[in-house]
Amino acid sequence: MPQPARFRYEAVAELIAQGVRDGTLAPGTRAPSLRAIAQQQRTSLTTALQAYRLLEDRGILQARPQSGFFVADVPRLPAPATTRPSLQPTEVALSALMLTMLEHASDERYVPLGCAIPSPALLDSAKLDRMLARSARVRGATHNTYSPPRGEAALRIEIARRALRWSQQLAPDDIVITCGATEALALALSAVTQPGDTVAIESPTYFGALQVLRALRLKALELPTDARRGVSLDALAAALEAQPVAACLLASSFNNPLGCTMAEHDKQALLALLATHRVPLIEDDVYGDIHFGAERPRPFSALDAGDRTIYCASFSKTLAPGYRVGWVASRRHLPKLLEAKFAATLAAPVLPQLALAEFLASGGYDAHLRRLRRAFADTLRRMTEVIAAHFPAGTRVSQPAGGFVLWLALPKAVDTRALFHRALEERICFAPGVVFSAAGRYANCLRLSGGWGWDARIEKGLRRLGALAASMTGQLPSPGAPPTAPR
Ligand SMILES: Cc1ncc(COP(=O)(O)O)c(C=O)c1O
Repeated sequence: MPQPARFRYEAVAELIAQGVRDGTLAPGTRAPSLRAIAQQQRTSLTTALQAYRLLEDRGILQARPQSGFFVADVPRLPAPATTRPSLQPTEVALSALMLTMLEHASDERYVPLGCAIPSPALLDSAKLDRMLARSARVRGATHNTYSPPRGEAALRIEIARRALRWSQQLAPDDIVITCGATEALALALSAVTQPGDTVAIESPTYFGALQVLRALRLKALELPTDARRGVSLDALAAALEAQPVAACLLASSFNNPLGCTMAEHDKQALLALLATHRVPLIEDDVYGDIHFGAERPRPFSALDAGDRTIYCASFSKTLAPGYRVGWVASRRHLPKLLEAKFAATLAAPVLPQLALAEFLASGGYDAHLRRLRRAFADTLRRMTEVIAAHFPAGTRVSQPAGGFVLWLALPKAVDTRALFHRALEERICFAPGVVFSAAGRYANCLRLSGGWGWDARIEKGLRRLGALAASMTGQLPSPGAPPTAPR
């Protein structure tokens, strides 16, 4: 749902986006010239250009050199249907498929459509490295010690400052720096649950979160989830009535793998429902900064006047997966979080925290995020085009408004576990659907990561994957599919 425009260029962009949605501006046709738009809307050329750049970021327009802007040719494959898990608490099994996928995550010989890792080429690594080197050079010896239990104050202040932009009030002292969002989720869960408890989650959900539940001996209660609107509130209400639920764990925005984001009024309704049942919410906001729309969606904790939400996030998807810096925040649960942090890893490494604090303070993060969002929106759009042309008829694909993964539901004849092994033989990696469910659902689904960005190898690998999937349905591979494996 489009949000109200705050700036003139956003209003102009929304006008064009509406024209595309209602078919007035057809895919592939030239968009009105900047001059025409400026005149019609009685605005400046700069504002018109800003509006078009925003639409480009969102994958709605494409700039073509020397020809102007065109409406993007986004093929309209249907979105996956709302999922229907059983609403029974399930123990999480260790997934051998997941371990195989992780083994290939950093192997450059494989086409990297598997793990949701941003390509180092898209990250501002050189600048970050300089800041890390300077921190080490200037006061290295004084940094070779333990961080305070909460983590470095400089970083916590920068994180709290940024959160204010989307009206999230995080006091620096309520933040605990962690080893990535993974540790944040583990600390949050151990603060509010006991072994044997049940945690309500989106289905499908990020396999790493499932493994944290497993490690803490928690059961997963998978909720029906819509690829656009997020979890079903009715199903959550029924589950809360039917059995004790110790916590609810949801993505703040752009869930991995579906890409769904709940509308703000649904987030508020969910918070009210959980408050009635006194169930804490743990939210995972690792993808929040990668929004293709004008505004960053607000996390649940920004809407939660009752302070029942534990907020988890990290820099892994936008800046530095290798630094392993994340954070967990909650005033109400801070003592438990600190206790769990102490028991788990005592403190986070100092230098990566200081480098990130300096990076944020330097003001370069916003420009970096703009480039990153544009790259991911463009990659997902191109991937969707290839999927429409090369995957078997009947394939459905998510249309996320942020993040960098796509979720595909293939015809039932395709078992993506078999497809996974077949694709590995050809050095193509992707994430099979079953790893995203505690109960092993989604055998005909898969997740593709667009984290690498777009290049000829990704395109070739994706076409080949489509041809392999098509051969499992008995459909002929598309004539465009290459006969040999990509390297
Ligand atoms: C939804 C989600 N949460 C958490 C993580 C893990 O984040 P980190 O690398 O910061 O531990 C991932 C990584 O793929 C993820 O997709």
